[in-house]
Amino acid sequence: MLPMSAGHRWRSSFPMRWREACLLGCWLSLCAAESFFACPSSCKCNSGNLEVDCSGLGLSSIPSDIPTNTRTFLFLNNKLSILPGPVFSNLSALQRLDLSNNFLDQLPQNIFSDLGNLTELQLRNNSIRALDKDLLQHTALLRQLDLSINGLAQLPSGIFDDLPALRSLSLRSNRLQSLDRVTFEPLTSLQQLQVGDNPWECDCNLRDFKHWMEWFSYRGGKIDQLACTLPKELKGKDMRMVPMEMFNYCSQLDDENSSTVLDNTGPPCTKGSTTPSKSKSGPEPEVEPSVGCPQKQRYRPVSVRRAIGTVIIAGVVCGIVCIMMVVAAAYGCIYASLMAKYHRELKKRQPLMGDTEGEHEEQKQISSVA
Ligand SMILES: *[C@@H]1O[C@H](CO)[C@@H](O)[C@H](O)[C@H]1NC(C)=O
Ligand SMILES: *[C@@H]1O[C@H](CO)[C@@H](O)[C@H](O)[C@H]1NC(C)=O
Ligand SMILES: *[C@@H]1O[C@H](CO)[C@@H](O)[C@H](O)[C@H]1NC(C)=O
Ligand SMILES: *[C@@H]1O[C@H](CO)[C@@H](O)[C@H](O)[C@H]1NC(C)=O
Repeated sequence: MLPMSAGHRWRSSFPMRWREACLLGCWLSLCAAESFFACPSSCKCNSGNLEVDCSGLGLSSIPSDIPTNTRTFLFLNNKLSILPGPVFSNLSALQRLDLSNNFLDQLPQNIFSDLGNLTELQLRNNSIRALDKDLLQHTALLRQLDLSINGLAQLPSGIFDDLPALRSLSLRSNRLQSLDRVTFEPLTSLQQLQVGDNPWECDCNLRDFKHWMEWFSYRGGKIDQLACTLPKELKGKDMRMVPMEMFNYCSQLDDENSSTVLDNTGPPCTKGSTTPSKSKSGPEPEVEPSVGCPQKQRYRPVSVRRAIGTVIIAGVVCGIVCIMMVVAAAYGCIYASLMAKYHRELKKRQPLMGDTEGEHEEQKQISSVA
């Protein structure tokens, strides 16, 4: 653009030409910008940070003309319920995708498979009830994943296997009752996990996940409250505060199950050796990493030692009581025999002495014995 003072002389000599040229130039540059970043109709776009915002328009499908170089695509507060498979296939530059507050209930397995640059995925407040285990297989750069306020009842194991960069994960307000620690072990960068407002069942199935949470907190990870819904005795309690002893019965169940397994299928301890990753986990000091059966050995010594201790204490108490009874009995016998002997001697002496003093003494003795 020329300054106004310079344009003054030009406008007077070639007024029409200058205006035409300016208009043409503006139009051309607009066209160029638009062909570089063409905004889908009725959406708002910011070509500076390559953002397309189609939020709150009541749309039930994703516009097909999103520019392929889009980095941020916002589609909140719409009426999206179905995502056709290839809808994001041309958006490999996408880094942020927000589909919150829609009505999605299922996601095709390969829906995100072309989004190799994705770092943030928001699926908050939809109706998602199940996830495919391969859904996040190709989004290795993902750092933030929000699945809160959905209908998830369980997570398929392996779903987080390819998310080594994930730092923040929200599973708040779903229908989760239990989680498997194996599902969370691949999340090596995780720093923040939200699990609140789910109907957690704090039983043996959640025990291993409790171990994982303790390790996660120890490592500096932040986790909100995991409040139990069942069993009744633990209702409202934070699973992390429930002492590990409450779950001792689980190892007995394990032992029972493993003993029946051993009876049925040959060699012992094969199960333990196939899952070595579990043996490095527990913070129990009772672990005895010696013999071939690492997983079972972790729990058994505790209960056996306790049982032995109880037997020894009971034995000692019984012994002491028995000894006291024997001593009391012996004392009684000795005392009785001494008294008998004394009386016999008194009777022997009486006819010899024959005076009232002796009789009086004898009566005293008898009354004191009585
Ligand atoms: C992706 O781009 C190709 C070529 O430009 C086009 O034919 C195809 O329809 C696009 N796919 C989608 C889902 O927009
Ligand atoms: C990431 O985006 C760039 C374009 O910005 C693209 O060339 C590249 O293929 C994308 N990477 C992946 C893994 O899709
Ligand atoms: C969830 O989405 C629905 C529909 O889009 C909306 O009416 C509701 O307010 C949202 N709830 C929350 C907690 O964001
Ligand atoms: C033990 O086995 C039974 C059936 O075989 C199963 O229902 C139960 O969940 C198992 N318990 C544990 C703690 O693995």
